[in-house]
Amino acid sequence: MTVHDDIERVLYAEDQIKTGIDRVAAEVSRAYAGRDFTVVSVLKGSCVFASDLIRRIPNRLELAFLAASSYGAGTESGELRIDFVPTGSEIEGRDLLLVDDILDTGRTLAKLKVELRARGARDVRTCVFLDKPSRRSVEMEADFKCFEVENLFVVGYGLDYAGRYRNLPYVGALRRELYTT
Ligand code: IMP
Ligand code: MG
Repeated sequence: MTVHDDIERVLYAEDQIKTGIDRVAAEVSRAYAGRDFTVVSVLKGSCVFASDLIRRIPNRLELAFLAASSYGAGTESGELRIDFVPTGSEIEGRDLLLVDDILDTGRTLAKLKVELRARGARDVRTCVFLDKPSRRSVEMEADFKCFEVENLFVVGYGLDYAGRYRNLPYVGALRRELYTT
């Protein structure tokens, strides 16, 4: 048994993901042309996306990490906890591009934007791998995004269920019996 056996269907295959990231990387590169910025990867979910994304952006950039968790073991959004933030000098006066795996209710990125501004960031934009617009509960749109997904729990390419499946190279829907109890 491997993680592949738990997937009901593939939503975005590896080559589709590559194409989507190429497009977004070009958009980001244009938007920040001639301007240094810092990519802030929201751990753990966005580490796979962020590492592919930055390698396609030729601009001068720095990389920082922030850790936040809003999901416990289930599939419903809980309280957001910020576990780790970049140092003051990595934030103050900097243009930040906050990168996350998925924009769901919008609470995580909305809260992180406010937090980073409060810590002195000059500008905070957002870039997400997936967007699930049907689930939004706060006003929040990403400045850059790769793909939209329907209201379905997805895993892979960094996204987890109960900590697993982040290592899938594609995005897939979990077999339903694995998360309905
Ligand atoms: P938001 O605060 O509701 O926008 O939640 C964003 C976070 O919820 C993401 O960073 C993910 O960790 C998690 N999340 C939301 N939907 C999914 C999903 O379909 N699969 C895996 N994680 C998800
Ligand atoms: Mg996450």
